[in-house]
Amino acid sequence: MWMAISFRVVVDIYHATSSILIFTRVSETGIVISMKINDLYEVTISATAFGGKGITHVDGMAVFVDQAIPGDTAMIKIVRKKKSYAEARIEKLIYSSPDRISPPCPYSGYCGGCKWQFVDYGCQLQYKRQHVIEALEHIGHITDVPVHSPIASELVWGYRNKIEFTCSGSRWRLPGEPRLPNDDGSDPAFGFHAPGVFHKVIDINACLLQPDIGNRILQTIRQQITRSDMPMYSPITHLGFWRFVMLRHSVAHDQWMVNIITASENRKTVQPLADMLRESYPEITSVINNITSRKAAISAGEYEICLSGDPEIHDSICGFDFDISANAFFQTNTRGAQTLYRTVKAYAGLTGRETVFDLYSGAGTIAICLSEAARQVVGFEIVDVAVSNAEKNCVKNGISNCTFYRGDIKERLSEISIIPDVMIVDPPRDGMHKTVVQQVLNIRPEKIVYVSCNPASLARDLEMMKDAYHILEIQPVDMFPHTFHIESVARLQKK
Ligand SMILES: C[S@@+](CC[C@H](N)C(=O)[O-])C[C@H]1O[C@@H](n2cnc3c(N)ncnc32)[C@H](O)[C@@H]1O
Repeated sequence: MWMAISFRVVVDIYHATSSILIFTRVSETGIVISMKINDLYEVTISATAFGGKGITHVDGMAVFVDQAIPGDTAMIKIVRKKKSYAEARIEKLIYSSPDRISPPCPYSGYCGGCKWQFVDYGCQLQYKRQHVIEALEHIGHITDVPVHSPIASELVWGYRNKIEFTCSGSRWRLPGEPRLPNDDGSDPAFGFHAPGVFHKVIDINACLLQPDIGNRILQTIRQQITRSDMPMYSPITHLGFWRFVMLRHSVAHDQWMVNIITASENRKTVQPLADMLRESYPEITSVINNITSRKAAISAGEYEICLSGDPEIHDSICGFDFDISANAFFQTNTRGAQTLYRTVKAYAGLTGRETVFDLYSGAGTIAICLSEAARQVVGFEIVDVAVSNAEKNCVKNGISNCTFYRGDIKERLSEISIIPDVMIVDPPRDGMHKTVVQQVLNIRPEKIVYVSCNPASLARDLEMMKDAYHILEIQPVDMFPHTFHIESVARLQKK
């Protein structure tokens, strides 16, 4: 590798390009060497990487450029350098890609939430498909599988049914906002983390990914929380009270759940807030308080109290009704989930005679949506309350052919003697545990439908399965417009 060779720097060249000076070190052989932090380069972006950054190459080294897309020509500044790649940000956009659009959100470019608001939606879908193809190729060494065009999200704004806002005493101020002399934790903010700054939060007035009433509820909660005597929680000192507020929306009934996450129990403080919210917003049908003393920034509490209304929110997918607790997983784009589950059902190709395993079954949504077309469905899920939701959801929908096993799939799967014809797997972002992949291969059902929200872990797991299974096709389903995330459904058939 050329980087291992020590070149003598003989020339420092200053290029005057587009009124910005570029400083480049050149060896005797004319090879540009030793890229350094703060170096400037004029580049054209050739592709996007999973993670949403634009890719260019400087001197054969891949450089990932924040907020850049193919077709951009920009002056970039190196901000991080590793052995085999570097990261950069745009100092000056020289030519804009024709795929750029004007982002409607004032926090675009600062908020870590949706990094692709400035990209035409059709192009976002193309980039996402490309990420799936590249992950399969580079991680899974799989090149011969058709990856279809992603199914677009029915809504591209206001599509999220769940948003979590962080409470902070350290506001991350946008450029142009006045700064406070000290950062002493007395500058409250209620919103999202700025990328890479774990203790500072951008104060968000409105998030375009949630329906508008959610933003009004957000404003009311902000006013009450910032006026309260109780302090915001600090992830540095681990002191403070208010940690997160999660809003959940039911599309079918236009109802809202407010889940207030605090570091300790203090009914005197949270109950008046809950009562005021229920009085002000008839759409709020549930106010929950999750209490967590854990240091990790996770909203699921050690225990929860229902402060007002129902302990669950009620929604419908594919004609079935679901009760969802504050801490149970539910797909965050309800309309998108319907499309996803229809794809799963089509790929499962059920005749009514099959035994189906639903691994990582959450609140039983996939199991219940498949129940009419199968002889029986057996779900496996680690979160206790999600399994209780799943069982209750079966009763609610008059379904008697689904059963659910509580606990870690790694343990539960080896305890069961039933052999399934079809397996649905829908693991979290990290994919399946290696042991679980091996257990699935040992059980070896005729068909597997793998649902994944992460192309990289999908590719890794498919590589382990590809000797035993034909990977027939992959259908990406876009559940997350304006982010680089993509859901994929893979259809596998036993060899
Ligand atoms: C991506 S969600 C899918 C849920 C469900 N299929 C749906 O569509 O709503 C993944 C689920 O796996 C569960 N889970 C994570 N690790 C697990 C494990 N080791 N064993 C069993 N379930 C697990 C999570 O609690 C979560 O409900």
